[in-house]
Amino acid sequence: MSKLPNIGTSIFTIMSKMAADYNAINLSQGFPNFRVDEKLTDIVARLAKEEVHQYLPMSGYQPLLSKIARLVQNSYSRIILPETEILVTAGATQGIFTAIQALVNADEEVLILDPSYDCYLAPVLLINAKPVRVNLNDDYTPNWERIEKAVSSKTKMIIINNPHNPTGKIFTESDFQTLEALLQKYPEIILLSDEVYEFISFEHQHISVHSREKLLHRSVVVSSFGKSFHITGWKVGYLVAPEYLMKEIKKVHQFLVFSVNSICQIAISEYLDLVSVDELGKFYQEKRDYFRKLLETSRFELMPCEGTYFQVASYASISDENDVDFCKRLIIEYGVAAIPISTFYADGKDLKLIRFCFAKDNKTLEEEAKRLCAI
Ligand SMILES: Cc1ncc(COP(=O)(O)O)c(C=O)c1O
Repeated sequence: MSKLPNIGTSIFTIMSKMAADYNAINLSQGFPNFRVDEKLTDIVARLAKEEVHQYLPMSGYQPLLSKIARLVQNSYSRIILPETEILVTAGATQGIFTAIQALVNADEEVLILDPSYDCYLAPVLLINAKPVRVNLNDDYTPNWERIEKAVSSKTKMIIINNPHNPTGKIFTESDFQTLEALLQKYPEIILLSDEVYEFISFEHQHISVHSREKLLHRSVVVSSFGKSFHITGWKVGYLVAPEYLMKEIKKVHQFLVFSVNSICQIAISEYLDLVSVDELGKFYQEKRDYFRKLLETSRFELMPCEGTYFQVASYASISDENDVDFCKRLIIEYGVAAIPISTFYADGKDLKLIRFCFAKDNKTLEEEAKRLCAI
């Protein structure tokens, strides 16, 4: 009998395959098509001929751990201990899986805010814990009343994703204050904060859990170098958590991965001395603005986008098909792949919205816009 009877192939895989089959422009899966910084690829090329091919320590390459601590301190003024509070993971996905396996028990509840990224559910189900899915408001702000109602004595973890995929929404100061007040009543709840788009925010600055004094003792913060350095295929990320949580997480990590790809860890460690993440927000803000301008004359209505490299668009004035069918037709008839937002909801809520990834070179965006404006 299947342990995950209701988990199928992810919508990202389905849409990417369809995009390839129909030779469509693929704005569905979230990956950039920019060339990686030559400074980074030069480091990798050099390292490939050096003695860097064996296992590294379980928690991560020591210089990389120190540089992650420096990055967190420079970005959020939080001081963390490299040896005990950081774990380098094979991407954020493995970090999230590992943290859930290590920290949540069978029959406990994990609160997930929908629309939600798809990698939270399976690790919860695999340990016979219960996912409790709570919809955000239709403007994608958290509905704190609904959230509070869903929290119970069984709740072990709340997962937040900020900046948010798929909606591009970011948490406000007031959201954090409400969350802090709520969590104060439940000392056992762990907060898992997926911040893989932490350096991609626009008009409003991203507020990280790293900077929330009241949350640090109970939080696992998830980051990904894939999103920050255009290297999603390298699958290198990291977790930051207080030592008592990290100790448990490392117990699982050592038998799941043991240690992450050595060349990539060493290369990123060296690269962190050469690069700043400060420009990333500006870079993607220009992309977002260009993407939106290109679609100005289209019939799509573009929703606000505060961060990430995703743009949500309404096709309500074009069609009343459900969003999955609309996305399929978009590929087949117009040669552009997007992601239907209903697939991010447990209840399949269909608001006639789809998600485009604008982490693409301008030529790709221009061609895609030409096709979308023809609809
Ligand atoms: C919100 C969110 N979390 C986690 C991940 C996974 O990141 P990684 O590729 O580092 O595993 C993604 C990737 O798209 C994401 O959008």
